[in-house]
Amino acid sequence: MADAITFTHVVKKYGDATVLNDLTFGIPQGKITTILGFSGAGKSTLMKHILGLTRPTSGKIVSLGKDMSELDELGLREFRRNFGMVFQYAALFDFLSAFENVAFPLREFTKLKESEIKKKVESLMQAVELVPESWHRLPSELSGGMRKRVGLARALALEPRIMLYDEPTSGLDPISTQVVSDLIASTAAKNQDRKLTSLVISHDVRASLRISDHIMFLERGQIVEYSTVEGFKNSQNPIIRRFLEL
Ligand SMILES: Nc1ncnc2c1ncn2[C@@H]1O[C@H](COP(=O)(O)OP(=O)(O)O)[C@@H](O)[C@H]1O
Ligand SMILES: [Mg+2]
Repeated sequence: MADAITFTHVVKKYGDATVLNDLTFGIPQGKITTILGFSGAGKSTLMKHILGLTRPTSGKIVSLGKDMSELDELGLREFRRNFGMVFQYAALFDFLSAFENVAFPLREFTKLKESEIKKKVESLMQAVELVPESWHRLPSELSGGMRKRVGLARALALEPRIMLYDEPTSGLDPISTQVVSDLIASTAAKNQDRKLTSLVISHDVRASLRISDHIMFLERGQIVEYSTVEGFKNSQNPIIRRFLEL
């Protein structure tokens, strides 16, 4: 299967600090890939490069067949519509209801009629298992787990080709954590026919091993291990063994 994203000898420096240290890898299309690693390993920086929110110091990034260095600011903004993003904080508009949050990108970027928007939002809300009682509440009236679902539904609204999740379960209780992880997996499964690619940054090892196809372990901007879940579990690398025993 083709890769949705490839990095070739990507280096990122901030001053004297090398945050991404000569990364070469591909993220397979249509699969769930999870990046694990301790805080400060460079995970979020890697994701920012995929979105073109920052540029590499050297090296090449090709995303959905596009060489990122060829895109200017306007091109990048257009390009980012291929991505759905779910971050640690749901980042919902707090003055809009759950329904209006999900409708927002549809109103902003499509010419759908009101009746079509309603239908689409309702189907997105159902896909992330948000009960109708919550659709017209404000984010402040929803639990953390429910806000995550709204964020996920909104990220899916424009039918992205790649879903990016940066620590989507941070700050959630264990049950919500499991629900959100399962939602990542069910979202990928429901969109498998259109080869939705999912890239997840997580600190939740157990959930990652459960839902992912591939796992990458980053440390100090370098790849320590990148393999299937089975390969990762059986890794003999002492860093991975220690990490798995935590
Ligand atoms: N804009 C920036 N300027 C300077 N240093 C940065 C910047 N962004 C990240 N870093 C540094 O890069 C390293 C990796 O950060 P980050 O990618 O956020 O790690 P992770 O997401 O794995 O916790 C950290 O040491 C962080 O301090
Ligand atoms: Mg981070």
